[in-house]
Amino acid sequence: MDNKNKKRIAILTGGGDAPGLNAVIYALTKTCIYKYGYDVIGYKFGYRGLLLNDYIPITHETISGIFHKGGSILYNSNKHNLFDFPLKDENGNFVRDENGKIVKRDVSDVAIENLKKEGIDTLVVLGGDGSLTSARDFSKKGINVIGVPKTIDNDLHATDETFGFNTAVATVTEALGKIHTTAESHQRVIIVEVMGRNAGWIALHSGIAGSADVILLPEIPYKLEHIVQKIEERDKRGKPFSIIVVSEGAKEEGGQQTVDRIIEDSPDAVRLGGIAHKLSGQLEKLISDDHEVRPVVLGHIQRGGETSAYDRILSARFGSYAAKMIEEERYGEMVCIKKGELTSMPFDLVVGGQRLIDPDNELIQVARDMGISFGDAPVEERD
Ligand code: F6P
Repeated sequence: MDNKNKKRIAILTGGGDAPGLNAVIYALTKTCIYKYGYDVIGYKFGYRGLLLNDYIPITHETISGIFHKGGSILYNSNKHNLFDFPLKDENGNFVRDENGKIVKRDVSDVAIENLKKEGIDTLVVLGGDGSLTSARDFSKKGINVIGVPKTIDNDLHATDETFGFNTAVATVTEALGKIHTTAESHQRVIIVEVMGRNAGWIALHSGIAGSADVILLPEIPYKLEHIVQKIEERDKRGKPFSIIVVSEGAKEEGGQQTVDRIIEDSPDAVRLGGIAHKLSGQLEKLISDDHEVRPVVLGHIQRGGETSAYDRILSARFGSYAAKMIEEERYGEMVCIKKGELTSMPFDLVVGGQRLIDPDNELIQVARDMGISFGDAPVEERD
C-alpha cells in the first residue's frame, strides 16, 4: 500500500482502568496492521494525552506480551473532560470563582488541532460513560470517532456486556472463598464491600458465585432487621457465621448512599465507599455478642491483575470489530454486544443512561430461592 494513503488510527483509554483494555489494544492494533494495513498510535493518560499531544506509536513490538495483562499500556485518567476542563494558574493551583468553584473551560479545539497535525483519520476511545460522552462530543465536532465500551461495573445500557466485569467477579469470588474459611473459624459476620457505583452487578454475581448469605444492592434498599433475621436464622441452623456482600452504592430503606470522597476535578466527582464499616458498627449492636462483625473493603484489587479468559475473548471481539467499523467508516458509533452478537450503536443512544438491576431479574429470584437475603424481607426459616 502507498504509505501516503495509509490510514492513521489513534487509540486512547479513558476513565478508570479495567482488565481487558490491553487485550482490546492488542486485538485492534493487530487487526489494523495485519488486515487493513493502517498505522496506529496511542495517546497516553486518556484525553490528557490528546490535549498535550502526548502519544506513542503502537507497533507489533509495543503490544508484544500485553494481551493477558490488566491495566493499560496507554495509562488511564478519569479527570480530563476537555469540554469542561479545570483551569489552573501559573503555580498549578485551580482557578476558582467567587463561590470557590473551580473555573472550567472548553479546550477541545486544542485536541482537534493535535489530531489534524498528526494526520489522524479515526480516534478510537475505550471508555465508560464519561469518556464516551466526550467521544460523542468530538464526533459532533466532525472528528471520526469509534467507541469501545469498558467498565468493570457492567452498567452501560447500550451493551449487554463490558470487558473487565467477568475478571472483577472472579476476583471477588476468590476473595469470598478465603473470607469464608476465616469467618467460619472465628464465627464472625464479615461484610465485604465491592465496587459498582449505582449498579449492583458485581455484588450480585460474585455474591451468588461466592455463596454469600446476604447480598445488598443499590437497586434494593435494605432494612437492618432483615439482615439480623438472616444471621439469626443461620445461627439456629448451626451456622454461626455469615458473609454479607455489599455493593458500595447500597443504602438502607429511606437512607442515602455512603460517600467516601468528592474528587473536585473529576467529571464524575462522587466516589462511593464506607458502607461496610458503617454497617458493621450498626450490626454489631443488633446481633448476639457471640459474633464480631468485620468489614473488608476489596477496593481496586477488583480492577487489577490478569484479565480472565472470558474477558480476553470479549476484548478481542470488540477490538477486531472496532477495526472493521473503521474500515467501513461507521463513525460516531460504539461497538456493543446484544444477545451474544456484535453490533454498533450511535453515541447519542449510548451515553447518559445506566444499566441497573431490575429487582425482577432472574438472578435475584435464583438467589432468593436459595435462601440468600437481599435485606428487604425476612427469609423463610426452614430446617
Ligand atoms: O467505574 C469503575 C469503578 O471502579 C467503580 O466501581 C468505582 O466506584 C470507581 O470506579 C472508583 O473510582 P476511582 O478509581 O477513581 O476511585
